[in-house]
Amino acid sequence: MATLDSNIHWHKALVSPAERESRSGHKSVILWFTGLSGAGKSTLAHAVERKLFELNCATFVFDGDNVRHGLCADLAFSPQDRVENIRRVGEMAKLFTEAGVIALTAFISPYIADRNRVRALVAPERFIEIYCCCAVEVCEQRDVKGLYAKARKGLITDFTGISSPYEPPTKPEISLNTELLNLAECVEQVIAYLKVHKVIT
Ligand code: ADX
Repeated sequence: MATLDSNIHWHKALVSPAERESRSGHKSVILWFTGLSGAGKSTLAHAVERKLFELNCATFVFDGDNVRHGLCADLAFSPQDRVENIRRVGEMAKLFTEAGVIALTAFISPYIADRNRVRALVAPERFIEIYCCCAVEVCEQRDVKGLYAKARKGLITDFTGISSPYEPPTKPEISLNTELLNLAECVEQVIAYLKVHKVIT
């Protein structure tokens, strides 16, 4: 990544984040879902978005698989590429919060340092880390996309949980055991957190 040039300046917006929030009636936050492939991040992020949408919130989901079709199509799964993937998505999610949106992201985001770098981009209350906790054995059993089987056969390298590490969050704002809780219960816990913390009313 190039370093910032001293000839590049910041142009201040004439509409403030506070004005956007007061119009939309909710806070703009990043709901950062993290966990192994198959742990339920995308399903949950989309279900939470649906619920928030019905509550008249402005929302958008960034999904790992989808983003890798476009914005991050040039990236693979080496440690460096994952760092860059999360950096780009983090910056994008931050821009969405500035636009008054609740940004929901569903990325494995296996490294603590990367997630903390995104956390540091916004005010502390605007980054809500949601750990979708599920044992690798269970994700492998589910194997919705057939990728664990391919990874076991050596057809996919650097596969998270098999041949590439996953660092669980140490202090997530929300931790959901997706082995024990069903989808509706997980959605309910996220929505309850957002109400208690006055992100939504
Ligand atoms: S991340 O590690 O950089 O955060 P990301 O969430 O974008 O990963 O992409 C993960 C998705 O890519 C998985 O859900 C899976 O469908 C697919 N995938 C393909 N190859 C790999 C791999 N080597 N490791 C993990 N996921 C992979």
